[in-house]
Amino acid sequence: MQRHLITSAIPYINGIKHLGNLIGSQLPADLYARYQRARGNEVLFLCATDEHGTPAELAAAKAGMPIFEYCTEMHAIQSKIAKGFSLSFDHFGRSSSQQNHKLTQHFAGRLADEGLIREVVEQQIYSNADGRFLPDRYIEGTCPNCGYDKARGDQCENCTKQLDPTDLMEPRSAISGSKDLEVRETKHLYLRQSHLKGELEKWIDSKFDWPILTTSIAKKWLHDGDGLKDRGITRDLDWGIPVRRGDTDWQGMEGKVFYVWFDAPIEYIACAGEWAEAKGGEDWERWWRTDKGADDVSYTQFMGKDNVPFHTLSFPATILGSNEPWKLVDHLKSFNYLNYEGGQFSTSQGRGVFMDQALDLLPADYWRWWLLSNCPETSDTEFTWEFFQQGVNKDLADVLGNFASRVTKFCRTKFGETIPNGGEFGEQEEALILNLDERLKNYTDFMDAKEVRKSAQELRAIWVAGNEYLQTAAPWSTIKENEAQAAMQIRLGLNLIALYAVLSAPFIPDAAAKLLEAMQLSETTWPTDARLAITLLTGGHRFTVPDNLFTKVTDEQREEWKAKFSGTRD
Ligand code: MF3
Ligand code: ZN
Repeated sequence: MQRHLITSAIPYINGIKHLGNLIGSQLPADLYARYQRARGNEVLFLCATDEHGTPAELAAAKAGMPIFEYCTEMHAIQSKIAKGFSLSFDHFGRSSSQQNHKLTQHFAGRLADEGLIREVVEQQIYSNADGRFLPDRYIEGTCPNCGYDKARGDQCENCTKQLDPTDLMEPRSAISGSKDLEVRETKHLYLRQSHLKGELEKWIDSKFDWPILTTSIAKKWLHDGDGLKDRGITRDLDWGIPVRRGDTDWQGMEGKVFYVWFDAPIEYIACAGEWAEAKGGEDWERWWRTDKGADDVSYTQFMGKDNVPFHTLSFPATILGSNEPWKLVDHLKSFNYLNYEGGQFSTSQGRGVFMDQALDLLPADYWRWWLLSNCPETSDTEFTWEFFQQGVNKDLADVLGNFASRVTKFCRTKFGETIPNGGEFGEQEEALILNLDERLKNYTDFMDAKEVRKSAQELRAIWVAGNEYLQTAAPWSTIKENEAQAAMQIRLGLNLIALYAVLSAPFIPDAAAKLLEAMQLSETTWPTDARLAITLLTGGHRFTVPDNLFTKVTDEQREEWKAKFSGTRD
């Protein structure tokens, strides 16, 4: 049995995420976690909310709530929506947890002991109009690398370059828009990432199976002159993890907190601690410490492309720099962006469809299927209501739903709700078996390789193969001449439904569960042999006709939703 540690990039606490965020990390991570569990492997699938930093502070202020209360409420909301999408996290943690406080302070202490931290009196931007230092994201300006005029102080969204606020040209306050900014002195801790360049390079070069998107971004920043320059890991803010050196005070750093991008990835580890505490009696270190059993764990991270530099350089620098036996990521799957109707999804502008709104329109499986089968894997892709309607109606309603309904209803009418005996496989069935064997292998290989779109295509082809078989076998005609043969055909069809339930569950878990229930199967194993899979249910086994699995999206609905989501959310 393999052991898989799987993490999704942890979503910012402020606000409900849109469908572009969902497909950029949480949903493909869930697909992989469900698949690995279905293969009988041991899985620990973790996600959390990313609660520190100025955006959280400002959102709480806007909501008129104390920050911790705000985060608690938003965490509950995000957690509920995640359940609504059937995201199967083993734990949905919080980066503000006690575990993360302790671990973040621990890492900072270790890095200091290793001589990798220097104290720097730095020039920081102070806004006279706002009466405060303006950290990273709250300064906007023009990117010195690509000229994008809405670059933020921590990173340029357009070219993904990590920035320092003072790098920006024409800087202005993102809070008030004021350009009345001055530079003041303040002391901060810097992580000497440049000292780890050789080690990081060796590690990245050993990753032959990373997707090109991941490696190209990692190498770009590794070799870019200042991609690995020493980075400030503390901030002048109230909300965050207090700067301490392990469990002792850090002289001169009183009242400061760690930078959110320093503590957020550490939450991947801390979250395992939260999981162990919530479950009681679990040992989290066997997932994270290579000296405590984690050396045989395969660790996969899922994220959007803008997150890649932090996961291939900054976080590994923390881990390697600690000189302790923590697990490093093995597979790093990153995604391009999903666009919305000719523009970008945008949280700040409220543009696009947000997770809560999506669930008000249709059940999770519709979204899961469309998003996963169209995910922005090798390039950016686009959500349009037309594509969405087409994908859902064709794949889910016409192909899968229709198959399940025709087979079960026909059987109920002609033979009752019990699988009929009789008949033998002939040429058509043997051809189907050959076809399915090849497709099963492809599907499994693609899922192992985390090739999301190719997996979806293969699954769709397996659904189509069943439809085509049914169409040519035509039990509704056969039955007029040869009842035994018709019984065999319909028995095969019912077995295909059970097979589809198992294979489709990682993509559309709720519909798959309905199909399994209809086929009255409680135990399942991952099919590797088509002949076995389609002869599993034998004559005499009871089944029921599943309720209408999928309803088509009508043209009226499409137009109504398109109009409803054409503006911005208030
Ligand atoms: N909150 C960040 C984002 O949504 C992701 C943080 S991932 C972690 O872009 F590594 F920092 F945890
Ligand atoms: Zn740029």
